[in-house]
Amino acid sequence: MRERPHHAAAVAERIWNAFWRHKGTPFARIRDGLDAIVKVEDGVPFALVAEIDGQPCGNALVIGNDEPAKPELTPWLAALWVDEAMRGKGIAGALLDTAASRCHTLGVPRLYLTSRPALRGFYTERGWRIEEETVGKAALTLYSRTLQ
Ligand SMILES: CC(C)(COP(=O)(O)OP(=O)(O)OC[C@H]1O[C@@H](n2cnc3c(N)ncnc32)[C@H](O)[C@@H]1OP(=O)(O)O)[C@@H](O)C(=O)NCCC(=O)NCCS
Repeated sequence: MRERPHHAAAVAERIWNAFWRHKGTPFARIRDGLDAIVKVEDGVPFALVAEIDGQPCGNALVIGNDEPAKPELTPWLAALWVDEAMRGKGIAGALLDTAASRCHTLGVPRLYLTSRPALRGFYTERGWRIEEETVGKAALTLYSRTLQ
């Protein structure tokens, strides 16, 4: 996203629609949060956008932490999204691998995420290890991925 700042509004809209709108969070808060991430010049946090023919079609964030029940774990993979029409082509896998490889380059030993239990197979087949079940208010599954 540092190299594609013109996608900021489209990515913020996807994150808001997928993860925040139904909770009543104002769009401006997500847009401002993404702008703040994109302004960071190096290291964590960072935002990834998947682009095909110049059009954004997916995104992921690497942020400090996304789970108040596990504040000691950092950094965190969040807001993974691929547009419905583009699913099943490996775009999410590529976003996860890119996030992992950038974190490894930054000297990060391990990356964390939480997801609903239905995505268990999706993550475990991509190198993520289940650390704990029913974590936090939303009873999510906690995963880690060791970076090497
Ligand atoms: C989950 C998501 C990111 C996958 O994106 P994608 O680009 O289609 O993923 P990939 O192409 O890399 O991988 C597709 C594989 O994931 C599997 N998969 C996708 N969604 C799944 C789900 N809800 N449950 C189980 N497996 C799932 C597919 O069956 C497919 O398996 P295959 O490779 O064996 O055929 C996408 O469906 C999405 O944006 N969902 C809504 C947002 C979401 O749930 N994000 C994760 C938050 S933790």
